[in-house]
Parts: sequence; C-alpha cells; structure tokens
Amino acid sequence: MTRPELPIGVFDSGVGGLTVLHECLISLPAEDFLYLGDSGHFPYGTKSAEELRERSAQVAGELLGRGVKMLVIACNSATAAAGDEIRELGAEAGVPVVTVVGPEAEIAASISGSGKVGVLATPATVESGAYRRALDSLGRPLTVTEVAAPDLAPIIQQGPTFDEEVLDTVRGYCQPLREAGIDTLILGCTHYPLVAPMLQRMLGRDVSLVTAGHAIAAAIQRELAASGGLAEGRIEGDYRFLVTGDVDSFVEVGTRFLQLPLAGRAEGIEI
Ligand code: DGL
Repeated sequence: MTRPELPIGVFDSGVGGLTVLHECLISLPAEDFLYLGDSGHFPYGTKSAEELRERSAQVAGELLGRGVKMLVIACNSATAAAGDEIRELGAEAGVPVVTVVGPEAEIAASISGSGKVGVLATPATVESGAYRRALDSLGRPLTVTEVAAPDLAPIIQQGPTFDEEVLDTVRGYCQPLREAGIDTLILGCTHYPLVAPMLQRMLGRDVSLVTAGHAIAAAIQRELAASGGLAEGRIEGDYRFLVTGDVDSFVEVGTRFLQLPLAGRAEGIEI
C-alpha cells in the first residue's frame, strides 16, 4: 500500500530531469515532489555502465532513505545502464520505479508513418543499446538511426548559450538524421527538450519530436491510482530539490527551465 502523503522522488544528473518534473507538476499538481539533481557528478552521459550503476544506486538509495512513495528515473543514461538494478532496489523497499526509454519508444513506434525513427542521446545511452532493444520489442519493423551527442547535454546544463558554435554542434548531430530521412526523432536525453526549437528548425517541421514528459506523468498517475497512493484533497503540493553540485547555479538555470521559483527550495547535499 503506497502512502499518499509521501513525496514522489525524481532524479537526474542535473537540470535535464526538470523537463520531466515540469510535466509532472502540471499533470499531478496535488503531489509533493523531491527532485535530486546530481550536478556534482554531471555528466552521466560519458560515464561507463559500471560507474552509472554505482552512482544511480547511490542517488536512488538517498531518495529511498528520505521516504518517497515512488522513484522516477528522469535520466536516460541512468535508466539505460541501471534501470533493472534500481527497479530491484525499489522492489526491496516496496517503492514502484518509473523510468524513461520505454515510453518514448512506444510513442515513436506508434506515430512514425515511414518507420524511419531517429534517436538522439548521450554516448552512454546509445552504447547501451537500450532504445534499439525497446524499439525492437514492439513488433513493428523500424529503421532506427542512432546518433550520440556527447556535447549537447553539457551545453544545456550550463544554461544554453545559443551561439553560432552551439548551432554548428547541433547541426552536426542533425546531419545523419536528415540523411536517414527520419520522420520521428526520440529526444533520448531529458536535457534535449530544452533545445527542441533548434532541433525542429534543423530537421524540418514534418519530423515529430518525441519527449518523455507526458508519458512519464501518465505512467505515474496510473501506478499511483492503482495502489491508492494519489495525493488528494488539495490543489497544489510542494516541490523541493536536493543538489550535489553548486546550488546557486542549479537554482538559476532550473528556475528558467521550470518557469517556477526554485529559490528557497533547494538544499545542497553530499553523497
Ligand atoms: N539528462 C541525462 C539523460 O537523460 C544525462 C545527461 C548527462 O548527464 O550527460 O541522459
């Protein structure tokens, strides 16, 4: 039995998971959220699978130890490397775990007209083969083009500068996707929705961009409703942040991205 009064724990390597939290705050306004931004160990996307498993277990353990009713891995790199381990940790604690990757794969496979699907993700996520497996399991023949974008999450994490150099970098990542003639692109890193307009311009209006936010919020809603764990009886819950890196810059960049105040809600922690 899930305890409705506890917060939902969410984590990412930094500010990227705020794109998921953003949808959750809109779709599930009555819930409390506790978001852990592991910016002290950013980036995750260039870490080895072993490093990611260790780090993700540490971060998940911190949230479970603080008492959360659900754990949301709002990071593709962590999900790809450590999704199974975190699900096990959650099961031991009696806490359901919701992750990215699967939901976006399902959406992409169902909306792509041509079956030509692109995945733009961190090197860790691409190397794990997680999206390929998820897309292959859906029983639809798809032509999948994966592009690893080592520089994109770091550009976004520092508060995107949007200069010519950034445009050139992003253009370089879009090139193989254009050549492959995709009609659907999975933004396989939770940081990337923050540069969606740039990607859309480079890929063309007709390419559908798939992000995790909506699907994750819906999965949380379903899971909590089934276990009687939905917060009820109020309009707005609370949202708080734990940050392993520089709190001020997380608050500054995060406030811009979330378009809600973070000041006074973020606490620096060492784990
Ligand atoms: N936001 C993360 C992801 O979804 C990771 C970015 C990074 O830390 O490299 O993969």
